[in-house]
Amino acid sequence: MKISRIGVIGAGTMGAGIAEVSLRAGCPTVVVEADDNAAQVGRDRIAESLQRLVDRSKLSTNDADAALANLETSSQIESVANCDLVIEAAVEDEAIKLELFEHIDASLGADAILASNTSSIPIINLAMATRRPDKVVGLHFFNPATVQPLVEIVRALTTSDETMAQIDEFATTTLSKTTIEAPDRAGFIVNRLLIPYLLSAVRMFDDGVATRDDIDAGMRGGCAHPMGPLELCDLIGLDIVKAVADVLFEEFASAECISPPLLNRMVAAGRLGRKTECGFYDYNG
Ligand SMILES: NC(=O)c1ccc[n+]([C@@H]2O[C@H](COP(=O)([O-])OP(=O)(O)OC[C@H]3O[C@@H](n4cnc5c(N)ncnc54)[C@H](O)[C@@H]3O)[C@@H](O)[C@H]2O)c1
Repeated sequence: MKISRIGVIGAGTMGAGIAEVSLRAGCPTVVVEADDNAAQVGRDRIAESLQRLVDRSKLSTNDADAALANLETSSQIESVANCDLVIEAAVEDEAIKLELFEHIDASLGADAILASNTSSIPIINLAMATRRPDKVVGLHFFNPATVQPLVEIVRALTTSDETMAQIDEFATTTLSKTTIEAPDRAGFIVNRLLIPYLLSAVRMFDDGVATRDDIDAGMRGGCAHPMGPLELCDLIGLDIVKAVADVLFEEFASAECISPPLLNRMVAAGRLGRKTECGFYDYNG
């Protein structure tokens, strides 16, 4: 089966980006949102993003128009009926995703593949909510999906070799992404390495071992990281860092995954980083 018609569930930060990547690769793409208003907001978000590329001369007007002409938006799950692949990127809530997987499975053709962009929910749980557990896989894009080259392909215990090969071919050849195969374990590969590192930096700062600026300058200058760990926490959002840390701790019960007291207090105070203009750094003005 050649994967060409794509469904994307959710048009938030990730879903809109994934849909744009799919459209720019020439795939007819159906985006399904929770209601008609959210579907329209999703369409506007994708159109505005394409227009920004046109304004910066990174995309021709013709290509932007062609991409938009290939976009269908809907509030009905049944609209994905003819898709070869559906990528679920709805809110990170297991109950909502389980219900969605059951519903999408019932609407899709027998050969279609069902993927989730979840950051933390076990893919096996989603697979077992369907009648096609061999055709369910994790497809974890990074934010922003339009820019970050990597996609983690997550194999559940039930995912078949055929599904893994088809999804890898689609991600690399059609979407021009770089792929790595990740285990169906909390954090997959990237977050399992990244989050304990970020937590160590917060702990080091909280314990007064080094200043904020020296910690960040150390990793930029000493390890050629484009950003120091505390700057990166602010970019990701401290609430997200804590949420992923909590998921890792729940799975591995390892001390390196414990959210440090300072991080917990900053999240409680609503100092979440760039999105609230205040985190380890001040972004107000
Ligand atoms: N934000 C990130 O950096 C990031 C990175 C990688 C993976 N993820 C994962 O991607 C997924 C989406 O995250 P996000 O940041 O885009 O969230 P978001 O809150 O920006 O968007 C979620 C969207 O899902 C929609 N939605 C909710 N219920 C729905 C339903 N029943 N049907 C259709 N749409 C529905 C919401 O209206 C919303 O627009 C999550 O599973 C998250 O863990 C996020």
